[in-house]
Order: sequence, then C-alpha cells, then structure tokens
Amino acid sequence: MPSTATPEPAATSPAAPAATPHAPPAPAGDAKTNPNPPASAAAPKGPDWWLMMRAFLTQGKRVASFAPSSRFMARKILDGIDWDKAGSIVELGAGTGPITAEMVKKANPKTRLVVIELDPILCGRLRDRFRDTPNVEVILGDATKFGELLAERGIPKVDHVLSGLPLPSFPAAARDAILATAARTIADGGTFRQLTVMPLIYYKMYMRYFEDVRFRFVPFNLPPGGVYVCRGFRAAPVK
Ligand SMILES: C[S@@+](CC[C@H](N)C(=O)[O-])C[C@H]1O[C@@H](n2cnc3c(N)ncnc32)[C@H](O)[C@@H]1O
Repeated sequence: MPSTATPEPAATSPAAPAATPHAPPAPAGDAKTNPNPPASAAAPKGPDWWLMMRAFLTQGKRVASFAPSSRFMARKILDGIDWDKAGSIVELGAGTGPITAEMVKKANPKTRLVVIELDPILCGRLRDRFRDTPNVEVILGDATKFGELLAERGIPKVDHVLSGLPLPSFPAAARDAILATAARTIADGGTFRQLTVMPLIYYKMYMRYFEDVRFRFVPFNLPPGGVYVCRGFRAAPVK
C-alpha cells in the first residue's frame, strides 16, 4: 500500500465514496443457488494486474496498491490458520481475489468465506472468479460496516479477519471502528491479519491496538511487503 506514507486525511474515510459513487451493495443472493450474482451483465475485461492498476490510477489511496498480491503474500497471510477449526473467515478489501483464491484452495468447503470489496469493477471480477465456489460470498460493500454485513448474514463471530485495506491511510476514527469491530467479532483464539507493502513501518500503529503483533516479511511481492498477524485487542488504543 504505497500511498500509506501520505498524511492521514482529516475528515472522511477513503472508504466513503465521494467523487466516484457506486451502486449500492447488491443483495446477498440465494446462497443455495448462487451466492455471487454477477455485479453487472458483463464481467470486467482484462487481466487482474490491469484491473488493479486501473483502480489504483482512478482511486489512488482508496486502492493503494498498483498490483494484486503475489501468491507468496497470499500464502503468508494464511499461514498457521487451522482449517479444520475455521468455521468462517471474512476478508476486507479483496481486490481481484489473490488471497481469496488461496483460501479457496486451503479451506474446508464448509468454511464460510465472506469477501467484502468496495470497488464495483473489482467486485465484478471477484463474483465472476468465485461464482462456482458456494462457500464464498462476495459482497459489494464498505468494510467499515463489516459487523453489520456479517450480522445481516447471521454470522456473529468469525475465526479470522484478513485485511487488504490501506488502514494507515484511513482516518483514525474509521480505523478504530474497523479494529473495534474486529475485536468483538473475532472468536477466541482468532487473529486479525493485515497485509502491507511498506514492511514494518506501521508496526507501532498495530501495537497501539493489539497486545501481540508479529510481522512476516514477504520479499516476493510487487513491491516487497509483509503481513501483520495480530492477537489480543487492547480495550483502548495506546496513545
Ligand atoms: C491494497 S488493495 C488489496 C487488494 C487485494 N487484497 C490484494 O491483496 O491484491 C486494497 C483493496 O481494498 C479495497 N478497499 C478500500 N477501501 C475499502 C472499503 N472501505 N471497503 C471495502 N474495500 C475497500 C480497494 O478497493 C482495494 O481493492
């Protein structure tokens, strides 16, 4: 997330659509038939790297990355998850789905994978990519509301929250809200996992929110990055 070096915006979340309004979140669909109805009549055209580049060029810090995560990054963020115990996992800011695809390979088909993406074109790509994967539900929506989105689907707790969101560039209030939702939503023994392309720079920021933060470096990514694996949410962020 290269743009995370920019100063924190004062007012609204980069998540809040301003200049580029999009369609309201689509209904969940009939899970028995197709949990991932197409976002539009035609799936977005072009390779994933182009869809991400285009999203980055048009939306800047809301996307914050010009390329999809590598498979090495995807494997690293999932490393250590006990797939036999994971009943449900939510992924925030899934982009074109490199992490989702790796999850689908590893997860028990009964594990519910809820994927939230704000950008309608990227969401269309996700729905097209996972339309035949019944345990994946792709939601066109705002991850700052992921607690409500899960509750609407009857999911009070998840085992892990995976985030590709450019959290450091979110206003502090929006970031606090996301992390507070994660804290009350993650089941005992679960984790909050955050990817980054600015290795270790935001370590202290995550330490403000979590008691235990481990960083895993991922050299083979464009650009090189890593993953924070966080446990033990602090009731109030350390100043
Ligand atoms: C750095 S990209 C990561 C994409 C993907 N996870 C990957 O690893 O390639 C960040 C993604 O978060 C999405 N995003 C940003 N703000 C969001 C929000 N409030 N709700 C949902 N998605 C959001 C962007 O549209 C973008 O797809």
